[in-house]
Formats: sequence, structure tokens, C-alpha cells
Amino acid sequence: MSEQPVVSVRVEDRIAWVKFARPEKRNAMNPALNRQMMEVLDDLEYRDDVGVLVLGGEGNSWSAGMDLKEYFRETEAQGLRGVRKSQRESYGWFRRLRWFQKPTIAMVNGWCFGGGFGPLFACDLAICADEAQFGLSEINWGILPGGGVTKVVVDLLPMRDAMWLTLTGELIDGKQASAIRLVNESVPLERLEARTTEVAQLLLKKNPVALKFAKDAVRRVGVMTYDEAEDYLVRMQEAANFHDKTDGRKEGIRQFIDEKSYKPGLGSYDL
Ligand code: ACO
Repeated sequence: MSEQPVVSVRVEDRIAWVKFARPEKRNAMNPALNRQMMEVLDDLEYRDDVGVLVLGGEGNSWSAGMDLKEYFRETEAQGLRGVRKSQRESYGWFRRLRWFQKPTIAMVNGWCFGGGFGPLFACDLAICADEAQFGLSEINWGILPGGGVTKVVVDLLPMRDAMWLTLTGELIDGKQASAIRLVNESVPLERLEARTTEVAQLLLKKNPVALKFAKDAVRRVGVMTYDEAEDYLVRMQEAANFHDKTDGRKEGIRQFIDEKSYKPGLGSYDL
């Protein structure tokens, strides 16, 4: 990376800890951060030593959303060409993260505003600190939640909650975010990393091919009719059987029925 690093990465025990790293700017996403995130995702996606990606934030913020100066004002000064370029860069890595090869967990440690809901939604699971604060502040500075954010809240939340956040710009804390299911769970900040590690370790025990096909299926079937979904899921399982060179499905049945070494209702087979 030629630019100053504004994303931090640490890989340990098959967990990639990726963090927004502009704490002095509350991890607002500027064009450099958007470019670096894409490079980091490229680098991590097919590494054998990475099984789960966690997206966190350095300092007291997860992300204060798009950088109002560098992402909006400075790119707008370059005209439409600059605007579209920086939109491609941010939407590009959000999309890449949504369909990432490995399961992903948003670990929300602090502020999460506006455009931050893009990567929040892109992560498969989300765990936050009770102390985290979430808000759609767009309305407070005179715009609608764009860049997919309105779609994110409508997909994730009941209409009243989506409308409340959108129109009032009021903050909700981690416990409230968990209560409306914006995140899976909320824990005290001091437990956030430990709990995220536990969840990541749970995922690391599962068949990685099944994880990728299953997470894509959850995102895809929502807009399908029942018959389309049924057909899609049959085809996807057949494709998964082709991609899983360990023949995990048969091995899972064998360890249960023949070896009696585990019970699928109570945990995973031995990979
Ligand atoms: N864009 C650009 N700069 C930002 C952003 C942002 N989104 N958020 C924080 N910063 C900068 C501040 O300008 C300040 O810079 P400076 O030190 O050069 O003056 C620095 O980060 C620290 O910010 P403070 O406001 O001093 O930090 P504080 O802890 O008091 O407040 C808070 C944190 C609440 C996050 C506040 O910074 C804030 O309201 N930020 C904007 C949040 C927002 O509305 N984001 C946009 C959402 S809409 C969208 O993403 C499309």
C-alpha cells in the first residue's frame, strides 16, 4: 500500500481481525480507506490461514460513516467523475464483503453512523458493545440515507424502526440495537473481543464450503418466490457437493451413523 495505512489487519488462529484505523477521525471512511479495504479483502479472501473475518474499529469508534470532507466535499469538487469513482470504491468493498468467501462478523465497539450501516449489513453476523451508539445522522445534515443505507435498514428492521432511525437521526445504544435485531447480540465492551472470538471459533468448526453456500443462500432467497428458492437451494447444494473436495456431507453422516462419534443436533462433525 503506497498510501498511509488506514486499515489494520492481524491474522491469528485463523481469524482475520480487520479494523477501520483512522481513530483520530472516528474511523470515517475516506477514499483511501475504501481503496485499502478492497485490497485487504482481496488479500484475505482465499488465504488458507483465514477461516473467519472480523471487522472492528480502532479507538472508541467503529465507523463514523462516510468522511464528509474527503468522501463528499473533496470528491464533489472533482465533478461527477470524482463522485462516481469514490462511490465505486466504497460500494465496491461493501459488495465484496457481502459475498465474501468466509463468514464475517461485525464487531461494533463504538460509534456506527450512516454509511457505516453498509459494512454492518455486509457482515453476516454482528456483535456490539452495550456502549456502542448507532445512528442514521444523514437527516441531521440534510440528506437521505443513501449508498444503500435505506435498503439496509428496511431489509434488517421492521418498518417503524427503519422509519424512526431515518427520520429522527436519534441514537440507539448497543442493547437497543440488539433488541430491534440490528445486531445479533450486545455485550459489555470489556467482553466484546472475547465473545466475538467465541463466535468466530464456533464458525471455524463448521464445513467451510457449507458456510459459504449457506450464507449466500440466506442473502439470495429473500427476493425469490418459494418455488424459485426451492429450486435454487437444490442446485446450490449440488454445487456445494462438487466444490467440497472433502465430501463433507457424506463424512458428516458417516461419523454420526457408523462411528457414532458425535450428534449433529448437538455440534459439528470432525472436519
Ligand atoms: N467525516 C469527516 N470527519 C469526521 C467524521 C466524518 N463522518 N466524523 C468525525 N470526523 C472528524 C471530526 O471532524 C474531527 O476532526 P478534527 O479533529 O480534524 O476536528 C475528528 O473526526 C474527531 O471528531 P469529533 O467530532 O471531535 O469527535 P467526538 O468524539 O466529539 O464526536 C462523533 C464523535 C459523534 C462521531 C462526531 O464526530 C460526529 O458527529 N461525526 C459525524 C457522524 C456522521 O454524521 N457521519 C456521517 C453519516 S452519513 C453518511 O455516512 C453518508
